[in-house]
Amino acid sequence: MKVLVAGANGKTGSLLIQLLKEEGHEPYGMVRKEEQKSNIEQLGGIPVLADLKSDVGHAVKGMDAVIFAAGSGSSTGPDQTEAVDRDGAINLIKATENFGIKKFIMLSAMNVDEADEAEGNFKLYLELKGEADEYLRSTELDYTIVRPGGLTNEEGTSKVKVGDKVEKGEIPRADVAKTIISSLQEPNAYHKTFELISGDTQIEEALKNL
Ligand SMILES: NC(=O)c1ccc[n+]([C@@H]2O[C@H](COP(=O)([O-])OP(=O)(O)OC[C@H]3O[C@@H](n4cnc5c(N)ncnc54)[C@H](OP(=O)(O)O)[C@@H]3O)[C@@H](O)[C@H]2O)c1
Repeated sequence: MKVLVAGANGKTGSLLIQLLKEEGHEPYGMVRKEEQKSNIEQLGGIPVLADLKSDVGHAVKGMDAVIFAAGSGSSTGPDQTEAVDRDGAINLIKATENFGIKKFIMLSAMNVDEADEAEGNFKLYLELKGEADEYLRSTELDYTIVRPGGLTNEEGTSKVKVGDKVEKGEIPRADVAKTIISSLQEPNAYHKTFELISGDTQIEEALKNL
């Protein structure tokens, strides 16, 4: 499968490129800067220069699936949360629709539906992620919305807990990446939104029982 990863130079995005390649897919990594291209190549991916804040059609064209794993990060302000986490995601979803690609996976976040209980910039982040998720759900795409708890850089265990709502928890980025890739090929994960933390169930089994 030809899979585009937006945010490929990021921590989860890099793992996605590496794992997609290991599993026999053809990963394309969206990067914003020329000098980031070699990172993607070293991971086994094909770099594509594009910015979520402008036209991404050339990056999306010809793909079988698209993954949003980008994020403005906590060091930028609300304007970037709006421009990347919401508008950038919607821009990518619209390009996916325009090119007739069916499969889109969104790396969202736990507690997006409870934004009212949060405060300040984090509240805004959850609200804006929620708006991007809502747009995705309104499309005809075979979407999967993955909402992990706190991301860590620990080694993956391939064991998770999923559900509409799960308790507060953490999960290694490696297991988030594995869950996203498994979701590409598990029809039971299509048209689903679920929270995700580390747990006791193998990823494939967890997705079959969503
Ligand atoms: N941190 C957590 O605990 C947590 C929990 C739940 C969900 N999440 C979500 O998980 C996702 C991945 O998190 P992470 O920490 O692995 O990511 P990360 O390392 O912060 O990487 C984010 C990537 O997004 C890219 N990006 C930013 N603006 C862009 C734009 N305009 N166009 C294209 N790419 C752009 C960045 O590019 P550059 O490399 O060029 O800067 C970076 O490579 C995010 O969506 C985040 O909201 C995080």
